[in-house]
Amino acid sequence: MDEIVPAALEDYAAASTTPEPALLQQVARETEALGDRARMLTGRLEGRLLNFLVGLLQPAQILEIGCFTGYSALSMAEALPEGGRLYTCEISREHADIAQRNFDASPFGDRIQLCFGPALDTIADLDGPFGFVFVDADKANYPAYYEAVLPKLAEGGLIAFDNVLWSGRVLDDADQTADTKAIRALNAQLARDERVEVVMLTVRDGLTLVRRRASH
Ligand SMILES: C[S@@+](CC[C@H](N)C(=O)[O-])C[C@H]1O[C@@H](n2cnc3c(N)ncnc32)[C@H](O)[C@@H]1O
Repeated sequence: MDEIVPAALEDYAAASTTPEPALLQQVARETEALGDRARMLTGRLEGRLLNFLVGLLQPAQILEIGCFTGYSALSMAEALPEGGRLYTCEISREHADIAQRNFDASPFGDRIQLCFGPALDTIADLDGPFGFVFVDADKANYPAYYEAVLPKLAEGGLIAFDNVLWSGRVLDDADQTADTKAIRALNAQLARDERVEVVMLTVRDGLTLVRRRASH
């Protein structure tokens, strides 16, 4: 995967960010054992950004689409207000089992409910409203996730879409894979969608923040 920000600057930005708790450092180290898949983990910089946003928004409920080993879920759960809940969707039994072990080891694990199965089915079963939604799963479904979660977004809530720059492949016209096309389509739709206000951040692989306009 090409880096959006040069690796040395990415490392510098992470090192200049508040360290994550020891358990999350351990989760990140253990996830490395999964090999290539470990690149899916958000890591210190983006994990602390998610934690920061949740700390500001104080949502009663969070929805995460794409749990993996639980790093980002734990980053967000730590900043939930008293009584807050986080629902995280995961389709891989192996990933769900690792994540649940990590949740069980965390003082914040009891705030998290792991929803096993295809995320679109889980979302249909959940009422919301969600004050924060983090989308970080199969890219081909990003447009569908957007339409499924927007009606369940709380007043003043935010959706964050990860990997919206897709290692720069969004600019490569020769790339017509389903994932790249879906990300391009979502990015174009969001920028012209009058229901929402949007800002795309060039953090890591690109993170788009979306909030609904008051009139919608
Ligand atoms: C990029 S990883 C998530 C990384 C995680 N947010 C973190 O920061 O550690 C994407 C995860 O989404 C899961 N996934 C893929 N398609 C899914 C679907 N349709 N429903 C639920 N989970 C899915 C994958 O198994 C994988 O564990």
